[in-house]
Amino acid sequence: MSEKHLAVIVLAAGEGTRMKSAKPKVMHEMAGLPLLGHVLATASALGAAHVVPVIRHQRDHIEEYIRAFFPTANPIDQDDIPGTGRAVECGLAGLPNDFNGAVVVTSGDVPLLEVSTLDALLEAHLEGGFGVTVLSSIAEDATGYGRIVRDSSGSFTQIVEHRDATDEQLDIDEVNAGVYVFDSTLLRNALGQLGQHNAQGEKYLTDVVTIALSEGSTVQALAVEDSWQVAGINDRVQLSELSAELNSRICEAWMKAGVTIQDPASTWIDVTVELGRDVTLLPGTILKGTTSIGEGSTIGPEVLMTDTVVGAGASVVKSHVTGSRIGDEATVGPYSFLRPGTDLGADGKIGTFVETKNAKIGAGSKVPHLSYVGDAEIGVASNIGAGTIFANYDGINKHRSTIGSHVRTGSHNVFVAPITIGDGAYTAAGTVVRKDVEAGDLAMNVAPQRNIADWVLAKRPGSAAALAAEEAKN
Ligand code: UD1
Ligand code: CA
Repeated sequence: MSEKHLAVIVLAAGEGTRMKSAKPKVMHEMAGLPLLGHVLATASALGAAHVVPVIRHQRDHIEEYIRAFFPTANPIDQDDIPGTGRAVECGLAGLPNDFNGAVVVTSGDVPLLEVSTLDALLEAHLEGGFGVTVLSSIAEDATGYGRIVRDSSGSFTQIVEHRDATDEQLDIDEVNAGVYVFDSTLLRNALGQLGQHNAQGEKYLTDVVTIALSEGSTVQALAVEDSWQVAGINDRVQLSELSAELNSRICEAWMKAGVTIQDPASTWIDVTVELGRDVTLLPGTILKGTTSIGEGSTIGPEVLMTDTVVGAGASVVKSHVTGSRIGDEATVGPYSFLRPGTDLGADGKIGTFVETKNAKIGAGSKVPHLSYVGDAEIGVASNIGAGTIFANYDGINKHRSTIGSHVRTGSHNVFVAPITIGDGAYTAAGTVVRKDVEAGDLAMNVAPQRNIADWVLAKRPGSAAALAAEEAKN
């Protein structure tokens, strides 16, 4: 069928009361996308001419997300009348009046559904010439789901909601996934006849099936084997279970693509992350957003990395990294904190207990120990001494520091910005650098050292220190 005759309606108007959240249910995240983002990505991949999310609860928040990330989707509001049937009825208003073809309906709270499953459902629907095709699955725990009721010959007769089911119907383990394909004409006609006589006083989309059958149309339910794909999220327990399942699928796909993941259960990878060949991820690594890791790099253990680009052959250990770039063969950690705007060159090093922000550190340059580097540019092959602070803030404004190439700065320096240190310059240990240093100069402003002879013997007589000193002198 051509795309012109295919529409997808995504139900996302419900409040999601069981989440007990200020945030709408479909905006809760898993693997870096809101639930609705997963569903809209799948809907978009189906290649339909029309994708119509139906929204209501916190519509502005959801609509803003849709406009930003799925600009070709056409969100439609649901009115006061409740229920999935009413939601689809409102959604139809988002299609051209003369639209005729197949209408796929999915739910914004069923995030693991795959495009291939929808494709197969659509194909079975069109090939068999059915009026309605329902996706079902055999559930281990059917609690909360609508049950697929069949007659003695196995033919589909109705979908009954959990809250409306008889004891006998509650024993049925085939459940409605909330994913359907409808013939558009049948759907329009049946929605017009929906009542609200049920336990929830809602217009149920599931009743369209009964109406279709009573009007002589054909209905089928197709069971999907992989029941995770149709699992819906109603509360945070299910959110966590599905997140773990999605994550294990993401890890498995990367392992098959050539990434070593020592402990997938403690490694969390957003769907938006890119990994190169022979990357190794060690336990406790969390990779988020637009992060990408180049070939052969090792990340972890215990790294939280967001929106960061890492080159090839790099190593990052026990660190927190956001909005940064890490060059080829560079090393970071353990215990580094790279804040946005950090750009570490190839072969560079950001070491233990070092915090960086808006800092370009050139190729081969090192900040190995106990330092803060903020609003700075460091050239190539320079070494920053242990315990150095780039004092970038005068209490009102931030200022930049520029350090040249092949510079050697002493331990325990303070660079009071704005400051420039020329190529090849040195600074002495303990220097507070307040004036620019020319290329090749040594800067020092430490007061000359004065030793007061035998001070300990005079002021601390009889102490262990004094006795040790006397011993040393004899
Ligand atoms: C629904 C099905 C049930 C199925 C289950 C699968 C009905 C009547 N029941 O039940 O048979 O087993 O999904 O997960 O359809 N929504 C709206 N507008 C509304 C109400 C809901 O857009 O007025 C949206 C929700 O935001 C959600 C989806 O429809 O994305 C499903 O609603 P929900 O209340 O979760 O339905 P279930 O009780 O799970
Ligand atoms: Ca649901």
